[in-house]
Amino acid sequence: MHFDQNHSLLNYNTFGLDVKTKYFFEFDSEENLIEALQHNDVKENLLLVIGQGSNLLFLNDFNGVVLHSAIRGIKLIEETEDAVLIEVGSGVIWDDLVAYCVQQRWSGIENLSLIPGETGAAAIQNIGAYGVEFKDVVQKVKTIQIADGQSCDFYLKACHYAYRESIFKKELKGQYIVTSVLLRLSKKPLFNLSYNHLENEVLKNGEINLENIRKTIIQIRESKLPDPKVLGNAGSFFMNPVVSREIFESLQLHFPAMPHYYVSQQEEKIPAGWLIEQCGWKGRTIGNVGVHAKQALVLVNYGGAKGKEIAELAVMIQQSVANKFGINLIPEVNFIS
Ligand code: EPU
Repeated sequence: MHFDQNHSLLNYNTFGLDVKTKYFFEFDSEENLIEALQHNDVKENLLLVIGQGSNLLFLNDFNGVVLHSAIRGIKLIEETEDAVLIEVGSGVIWDDLVAYCVQQRWSGIENLSLIPGETGAAAIQNIGAYGVEFKDVVQKVKTIQIADGQSCDFYLKACHYAYRESIFKKELKGQYIVTSVLLRLSKKPLFNLSYNHLENEVLKNGEINLENIRKTIIQIRESKLPDPKVLGNAGSFFMNPVVSREIFESLQLHFPAMPHYYVSQQEEKIPAGWLIEQCGWKGRTIGNVGVHAKQALVLVNYGGAKGKEIAELAVMIQQSVANKFGINLIPEVNFIS
């Protein structure tokens, strides 16, 4: 068992930060992972499990062990007339999975096309876009418990999924490593086109089918979100804030044009991108970092930035939004120090 030392994480964080980790290990099976967890270097150091690092902000070099899943493969577990159940390794690139499912004519995750990252991280983060979330298709998340190397399966309810949240980010943070997920997809054309003008956008590409939905989502994302391979970024930097109806109504009085989404009778969600744009941040650059010109929720590394510069920009944005709207933006990105 070989742990790489002083390993560069440049290719493992989409901000493109030139940081290193003390040890790096890639596991390609459950057995391999269990063995790694018994290693002294793992037991005696801080542990961080990463996918493609599409939601991470490294504030400096990582003084511990980074584990990366190379468990790949998509297995058909069960097939009925209407649906399939597939098992997907945590190291499968999420968008490769979406492309494969669309090709097989299995619907359920086409709206999640082009989201960067790997399947294991999708299960932790409950990725979501265009009216669909990971939780809508997952049946079970298979994990290994770090403390004792035991397998532990979490069925949907046990994952406590909510908007960009799960039990793995909260109560059980840092305790389990995802090895694979079981997803149930439909063989019938069951589409979700309720998000904004999505249906009209798909129709511009022809009839409503899986290929055209994927094509449209890719077009929308490419038009707003910078490609991390070209411009370092981690997608939405902040979560969209959910506020009480009382706060929402008083804000709406002052800002009648404020976009918003219904969450429940008690709560409303406000797009953080709009709040940040209203504070004048859209397209602004400070040193090597800035706020993307087409989507204010995306912070970018124009090249050579340090994680701390991005974190400082984030704080300035949070202060502006708090001053103008009285809302505290919470980062979606995980800060690693
Ligand atoms: N808006 C602005 N200015 C901006 C950006 C957005 O005014 O610079 C307003 C617009 O009014 C727009 C509304 O915000 O109608 C919503 O914008 P958009 O459809 O781009 O979505 P979002 O709320 O900014 C969320 C997710 C994205 C996801 C899209 C589509 C979060 C934090 N972000 O963004 O997820 O792709 O919806 O579903 O929930 C990610 O998590 O990394 C991510 C990109």
